[in-house]
Amino acid sequence: MNRKVCVAPMMDCTDRHERFFLRLISKNVLLYTEMIVSEAIDRGDKKKLLSFNIKEKPVALQLGGSSPKLLANASKIGEEFGYDEINLNLGCPSKKVQKNKFGACLIKEPNLVADCLSEMQSKTKLPVTVKTRIGYDDVEDYESLFNFIKILKETGVKTFVIHSRKAMLGKFTPKQNLNIPPLKYEMVYKLKEDFKDLEIIINGGITSTDQIKNHLKKVDGVMIGRSVYHSPYLLAEIEKEIFKNEDVFSRQEIIQNLIPYVKNEIKNGTRLNQIMRHTIGLFHGQTGSAFWRRYLSENMCVRDADVKKIDHIMDKISFNQLNRTVG
Ligand SMILES: Cc1cc2nc3c(=O)[nH]c(=O)nc-3n(C[C@H](O)[C@H](O)[C@H](O)COP(=O)(O)O)c2cc1C
Repeated sequence: MNRKVCVAPMMDCTDRHERFFLRLISKNVLLYTEMIVSEAIDRGDKKKLLSFNIKEKPVALQLGGSSPKLLANASKIGEEFGYDEINLNLGCPSKKVQKNKFGACLIKEPNLVADCLSEMQSKTKLPVTVKTRIGYDDVEDYESLFNFIKILKETGVKTFVIHSRKAMLGKFTPKQNLNIPPLKYEMVYKLKEDFKDLEIIINGGITSTDQIKNHLKKVDGVMIGRSVYHSPYLLAEIEKEIFKNEDVFSRQEIIQNLIPYVKNEIKNGTRLNQIMRHTIGLFHGQTGSAFWRRYLSENMCVRDADVKKIDHIMDKISFNQLNRTVG
């Protein structure tokens, strides 16, 4: 699987609508789901939690949890639903997540994590991968990170996504935990030097194709979260510059291509806002970006799912109108 550029798992962002939209921009990036808790898959509505459009592929399912049995079961179910990879979240620092013992606090329990990973691999043929941070609280030395990865590697896991910041457990809010601890890319580069046989994907604060190119000199892949969410057309530049694929759609064409999907989803009960909210940043940096944001805020909160009304709104976004209004 090509993990040269991955779009990060992001709660409330990388749902199936966002992934469908991003796939219209980029053929080659690997997309991730939001974190889905293994207990929820065990007890909840599996179809609602896991179904997705085949056009989104390749997609990795990210799981949260610390029960080897539940994680293994969720991995098996993920494979049946057609995902391409199963990823275990060992990086989320939120208090709620800690209370339920998953996410970054599991860095403290490498043997339990190893049990989870072994059990997961025994129940699925898909690659099982890990997403973690460089450390937590006062544990931020390279040796601890090295030892953690060494223990997990013994289970046969070959791909590690490393968010290049430590997690401050219980001290910072999730937002602070994404910004305050400093980025230490050197630790991730060193990991690749010491584990040449592992696939190391670097994550945290990456915003441009130039940065991607520089990281790719040292590691196997990059993962980008917020920059893609806020400015999704960055993926078109990534297609051209990183994947050497010139065959990308314009912003206007992407909206045109999204319309049949929107119409179909609305018929099946999705609200317009649930899809279009992800497109707010599409024209980011363009002269007409304010027009697009205003257009969406005036039109996308149509409360009832009146298909005719929504058809009308979507038809109004005609190719010509966009071409005229959005630079
Ligand atoms: C809104 C939001 C939700 C996130 N949800 C998840 C998640 O579900 N699982 C996960 O592993 N990381 C999650 N993260 C962290 C990202 O995957 C990523 O590691 C982090 O944003 C750093 O990358 P960036 O600087 O490119 O955004 C989330 C980040 C944001 C901003």
